[in-house]
Amino acid sequence: MTTSAYICPICSTTLDIISSENTYRCGNRHSFDVAKEGYVNLLPVQYKHSAEPGDSKAMLNARRAFLEAGYYQPLAQAIALLVSLNASNQALRLLDVGCGEGYYLRQLRQHYPAALTIERHGMDIAKAAIAAAAKKDPTANYCVASAQRLPYADGYFDVISRVFAPSNAAELQRVLKPAGHLLLVTPGPRHLTQLKDFIYTDVKEHSETAELPTGFERLTSQRISRWITPDKEQRAALLQMTPFAWRATPENQQAIAEPETLAIETDFILTLARKQA
Ligand SMILES: C[S@@+](CC[C@H](N)C(=O)[O-])C[C@H]1O[C@@H](n2cnc3c(N)ncnc32)[C@H](O)[C@@H]1O
Ligand SMILES: [Zn+2]
Repeated sequence: MTTSAYICPICSTTLDIISSENTYRCGNRHSFDVAKEGYVNLLPVQYKHSAEPGDSKAMLNARRAFLEAGYYQPLAQAIALLVSLNASNQALRLLDVGCGEGYYLRQLRQHYPAALTIERHGMDIAKAAIAAAAKKDPTANYCVASAQRLPYADGYFDVISRVFAPSNAAELQRVLKPAGHLLLVTPGPRHLTQLKDFIYTDVKEHSETAELPTGFERLTSQRISRWITPDKEQRAALLQMTPFAWRATPENQQAIAEPETLAIETDFILTLARKQA
């Protein structure tokens, strides 16, 4: 029996891993089995507001197809570099909130310096995404949970990353160590402007400064911009990944798929912040 990083989602006490039974259990005997893919579901039904919360299967498939094509790799590399620059010699504990299928956690493993050690955790409310993530990478730790109630012990993490995902400021604060780091990826002013042009008559640009959750102070901010030329299918997948996909009419979708080539700007703001005392 070993103490894990997790706390019980029902009574908030420590969860122990009972290896012989492939289960996590708290002192009050609430238990959570490890699924065959290797993740644990820590989202009790009473906190589930729909049958399949989080991104739908179609959105997951679209995101997978697009990310695996490598268009966001410069961003993934910048994340790995930033995390390693802020690492000490000790094993670093990192959580990716709303990690989806774990693309950035896998990239982190690939691009992180071999001389340093990192304990990688990912959580998301979408079970299908977590099952796929865990299956692809048994060396990372995955659970299904809500960002509103993170099932981790107080002060467990050195770094939390949040890439285009929701979070709860108080929970981020709670699970980070004192002076722990938060790494935010948010859309930059020009992000996907050429896609939005098909949908909106008046495209509004995002701010160049990301809004920080309460209780965090900005350390550095970096802008990563690239032009990409995804093919027709990849453009459809990219549209599906965006929060404005629901606004695209069938005519908009057709117009986006039509051009033989279409150059699109990607623009990210990578913000490093620190938990305030
Ligand atoms: C735009 S996607 C980003 C996924 C991933 N970070 C990436 O960039 O590929 C947003 C993710 O947040 C998840 N999500 C939405 N609400 C959530 C919540 N309350 N708690 C945890 N995850 C949530 C969705 O299931 C989805 O995987
Ligand atoms: Zn319990």
